Amino acid sequence: MKAYNVAIVGATGLVGQEFIKALEQRSFPMASVHLYASDRSAGKKLYVGHKEVAVKETSPESFHNIDIALFSAGAEISRYFSPIAAESGALVVDNSSAFRMEPKVPLVVPEVNPEDIKWHEGIIANPNCSTIQMVVALYPLHKVNPIKRIVVSTYQAVAGAGSAAMEELTTQAKLVLEGKNVVPHVYPHQIAFNLLPEIDVFLDDGYTKEEWKMVEETRKIMHAGDMAVSATCVRVPVFIGHSEAINVEFTAPITPEEARHILVHAPGVKVLDDPSVSLYPQPWLAVGSDNVFVGRIRTDISQPNSLVMWVVSDNLRKGAALNAVQIAEEAVQRGWVKTQK
Ligand SMILES: NC(=O)c1ccc[n+]([C@@H]2O[C@H](COP(=O)([O-])OP(=O)(O)OC[C@H]3O[C@@H](n4cnc5c(N)ncnc54)[C@H](OP(=O)(O)O)[C@@H]3O)[C@@H](O)[C@H]2O)c1
Repeated sequence: MKAYNVAIVGATGLVGQEFIKALEQRSFPMASVHLYASDRSAGKKLYVGHKEVAVKETSPESFHNIDIALFSAGAEISRYFSPIAAESGALVVDNSSAFRMEPKVPLVVPEVNPEDIKWHEGIIANPNCSTIQMVVALYPLHKVNPIKRIVVSTYQAVAGAGSAAMEELTTQAKLVLEGKNVVPHVYPHQIAFNLLPEIDVFLDDGYTKEEWKMVEETRKIMHAGDMAVSATCVRVPVFIGHSEAINVEFTAPITPEEARHILVHAPGVKVLDDPSVSLYPQPWLAVGSDNVFVGRIRTDISQPNSLVMWVVSDNLRKGAALNAVQIAEEAVQRGWVKTQK
């Protein structure tokens, strides 16, 4: 079996750390691994398996002889370095929002549209964390009974905003419990013991950019340009694990039992749905798991042909690093990665 030279840009971050774990846990065929971050982290050592690897500052030379480059250092870094990496011959899988809506860049969730990987021109985009878990849960139903409309409300963990946001929640929670004043840095308001219906910037139509991403990315991944989607994205004081309440209208009638039957057999999905014993997905239980958990599946009593469900996943795993590694795996298995001479 071929082995690949892999680079991780943003290796010291929350997603970067999950990249390392996912590559190891899934025995990704690596000939070598190269860790990159900012100059602040240069020289820092991280374990990859039992081996210590020194982190280097990212530079245009970082991609020489690299076959696969996994990016998780923010959109600005991706916009600058991803084309350089692709030009050097690497397959780039980018976690940021930089290229997701570019017509020539596939936006991929392997359980939904793996075939789109084939038309990449060097860069493949990993969708937004909230979008990934929603389409993994809804696509198997859509294949059987096409979806007409989705209304989703998210409950997104602070890990979605990086390591600084995790620290902010810890610090604020302590301060609030000690009766002290809180000064927000990462978020516009206190996040501890609070909810913020603002993720990313506000747009002219009153939606946020995060909500817009859920609409447009869902349509692109599911090849459903006309699908009606409306999202409300809310930051909640949970460390890791995004949750979503989803109302979905189908073309034809569908019962909760039919939906459960389809989802039990769907790739990447685990159904946890027994109200009699309070069994339903929770972010705390999803941490570290590769699954998208679905529960509380019920008929939407307000509208025909509609269901309501509760969907939870680890945003750092399936919502970010795992999905990107699965894209790389698919590309490798289908022979769509060039190896450098
Ligand atoms: N967190 C999630 O759930 C999630 C989900 C999907 C996508 N994403 C995307 O993944 C990216 C990273 O998220 P994260 O949560 O891992 O953030 P994070 O914990 O804040 O980590 C950011 C990483 O970027 C690196 N970095 C910052 N400035 C850099 C520079 N000038 N050159 C090279 N590297 C630089 C940092 O290195 P230093 O340690 O040296 O500063 C660190 O490794 C973002 O684009 C985010 O939108 C995140």
